[in-house]
Amino acid sequence: MSLTVYRKAHFNAAHRLYRKDWSDEKNAAVFGKCSNPNFHGHNYELEVGVTGEIDKETGFLIDLKILKDIIKQEVEDPFDHKNLNKEVAVFKDLNPTVENIAIEIYNRIKKRVGAAFQISVTLYETPRNFVIYTGPV
Ligand code: NI
Repeated sequence: MSLTVYRKAHFNAAHRLYRKDWSDEKNAAVFGKCSNPNFHGHNYELEVGVTGEIDKETGFLIDLKILKDIIKQEVEDPFDHKNLNKEVAVFKDLNPTVENIAIEIYNRIKKRVGAAFQISVTLYETPRNFVIYTGPV
Protein backbone atom coordinates (compact mmCIF):
# COMPACT_ATOMS: atom_id res chain seq x y z
CA MET A 1 0.00 0.00 0.00
CA SER A 2 1.19 3.50 -0.71
CA LEU A 3 -0.50 6.51 0.82
CA THR A 4 0.60 10.13 0.91
CA VAL A 5 -0.70 12.89 3.15
CA TYR A 6 -0.26 16.51 2.14
CA ARG A 7 0.01 19.78 3.98
CA LYS A 8 -0.23 23.12 2.20
CA ALA A 9 1.49 26.32 3.25
CA HIS A 10 2.56 29.56 1.70
CA PHE A 11 5.10 32.30 2.14
CA ASN A 12 5.91 35.62 0.51
CA ALA A 13 9.55 36.31 -0.20
CA ALA A 14 11.82 38.53 -2.25
CA HIS A 15 14.68 37.40 -4.43
CA ARG A 16 17.00 38.29 -7.25
CA LEU A 17 18.38 35.78 -9.74
CA TYR A 18 21.87 36.68 -10.86
CA ARG A 19 25.47 35.57 -11.02
CA LYS A 20 28.10 37.84 -9.51
CA ASP A 21 30.56 36.84 -12.23
CA TRP A 22 28.21 37.99 -15.02
CA SER A 23 27.58 41.54 -16.23
CA ASP A 24 24.23 43.23 -15.51
CA GLU A 25 23.45 42.88 -19.23
CA LYS A 26 24.04 39.13 -19.26
CA ASN A 27 22.09 38.65 -16.02
CA ALA A 28 19.18 40.60 -17.49
CA ALA A 29 19.33 38.59 -20.72
CA VAL A 30 19.30 35.23 -18.91
CA PHE A 31 17.13 35.91 -15.88
CA GLY A 32 14.84 38.64 -17.21
CA LYS A 33 12.59 40.39 -14.68
CA CYS A 34 13.81 38.06 -11.93
CA SER A 35 17.24 39.73 -12.18
CA ASN A 36 15.98 43.20 -11.13
CA PRO A 37 18.87 44.55 -8.98
CA ASN A 38 16.32 45.98 -6.52
CA PHE A 39 14.74 42.55 -5.88
CA HIS A 40 11.04 41.63 -6.28
CA GLY A 41 8.60 39.34 -4.54
CA HIS A 42 6.67 36.16 -5.20
CA ASN A 43 3.78 34.53 -3.39
CA TYR A 44 5.10 30.99 -3.02
CA GLU A 45 2.60 28.17 -2.55
CA LEU A 46 3.95 25.00 -1.00
CA GLU A 47 2.62 21.45 -0.79
CA VAL A 48 4.54 18.92 1.26
CA GLY A 49 3.67 15.26 0.73
CA VAL A 50 4.64 12.57 3.23
CA THR A 51 4.53 8.91 2.21
CA GLY A 52 4.92 6.01 4.61
CA GLU A 53 3.10 3.45 6.71
CA ILE A 54 -0.04 4.13 8.69
CA ASP A 55 0.40 3.76 12.44
CA LYS A 56 -2.00 1.01 13.47
CA GLU A 57 -2.72 2.54 16.87
CA THR A 58 -3.59 6.05 15.71
CA GLY A 59 -4.60 5.55 12.08
CA PHE A 60 -2.27 8.42 11.20
CA LEU A 61 0.54 8.25 8.67
CA ILE A 62 1.99 11.33 10.34
CA ASP A 63 0.31 13.63 12.83
CA LEU A 64 -0.52 16.64 10.64
CA LYS A 65 -0.10 18.93 13.63
CA ILE A 66 3.54 17.81 13.79
CA LEU A 67 3.98 18.31 10.02
CA LYS A 68 2.40 21.76 10.31
CA ASP A 69 4.87 22.72 13.05
CA ILE A 70 7.85 21.39 11.07
CA ILE A 71 6.83 23.45 8.00
CA LYS A 72 6.38 26.52 10.18
CA GLN A 73 9.77 26.16 11.86
CA GLU A 74 11.77 25.10 8.78
CA VAL A 75 10.10 27.17 6.03
CA GLU A 76 7.60 29.81 7.12
CA ASP A 77 9.57 31.31 10.00
CA PRO A 78 12.89 31.56 8.09
CA PHE A 79 11.48 32.44 4.61
CA ASP A 80 8.22 34.39 5.00
CA HIS A 81 8.60 38.14 4.33
CA LYS A 82 12.35 37.67 3.92
CA ASN A 83 14.82 38.58 1.22
CA LEU A 84 16.02 35.10 0.30
CA ASN A 85 19.37 36.28 -1.14
CA LYS A 86 20.24 38.32 1.94
CA GLU A 87 18.52 36.59 4.82
CA VAL A 88 18.71 32.85 4.09
CA ALA A 89 22.34 31.74 4.35
CA VAL A 90 22.23 29.02 1.68
CA PHE A 91 21.13 31.55 -0.96
CA LYS A 92 24.03 33.92 -0.43
CA ASP A 93 25.96 31.95 -3.05
CA LEU A 94 23.19 29.85 -4.61
CA ASN A 95 20.63 31.34 -6.99
CA PRO A 96 17.20 31.29 -5.26
CA THR A 97 15.41 29.80 -8.24
CA VAL A 98 12.19 27.88 -7.59
CA GLU A 99 14.25 24.73 -8.25
CA ASN A 100 16.85 25.54 -5.59
CA ILE A 101 14.26 26.75 -3.08
CA ALA A 102 12.32 23.48 -3.45
CA ILE A 103 15.49 21.44 -2.86
CA GLU A 104 16.36 23.49 0.23
CA ILE A 105 12.84 23.03 1.62
CA TYR A 106 13.05 19.30 0.92
CA ASN A 107 16.38 19.01 2.75
CA ARG A 108 15.10 20.92 5.78
CA ILE A 109 11.90 18.90 6.12
CA LYS A 110 13.48 15.54 5.32
CA LYS A 111 15.93 16.06 8.18
CA ARG A 112 13.00 16.51 10.56
CA VAL A 113 10.62 13.71 9.52
CA GLY A 114 13.31 11.04 9.44
CA ALA A 115 14.06 7.94 7.42
CA ALA A 116 10.66 6.26 7.93
CA PHE A 117 9.02 8.70 5.51
CA GLN A 118 9.57 9.74 1.90
CA ILE A 119 8.65 13.30 1.13
CA SER A 120 7.81 15.39 -1.90
CA VAL A 121 7.94 19.15 -2.19
CA THR A 122 5.72 20.95 -4.69
CA LEU A 123 6.55 24.63 -4.89
CA TYR A 124 4.66 27.20 -6.96
CA GLU A 125 6.49 30.43 -7.71
CA THR A 126 3.54 31.71 -9.75
CA PRO A 127 0.14 30.12 -10.36
CA ARG A 128 1.55 28.59 -13.54
CA ASN A 129 5.20 27.89 -12.70
CA PHE A 130 6.05 25.17 -10.21
CA VAL A 131 8.45 22.35 -9.49
CA ILE A 132 8.08 19.01 -7.74
CA TYR A 133 11.12 17.58 -5.95
CA THR A 134 11.09 14.08 -4.51
CA GLY A 135 14.71 13.81 -3.46
CA PRO A 136 17.97 12.59 -4.94
CA VAL A 137 17.49 9.37 -6.94
NI1 NI B 1 11.43 36.11 -9.47
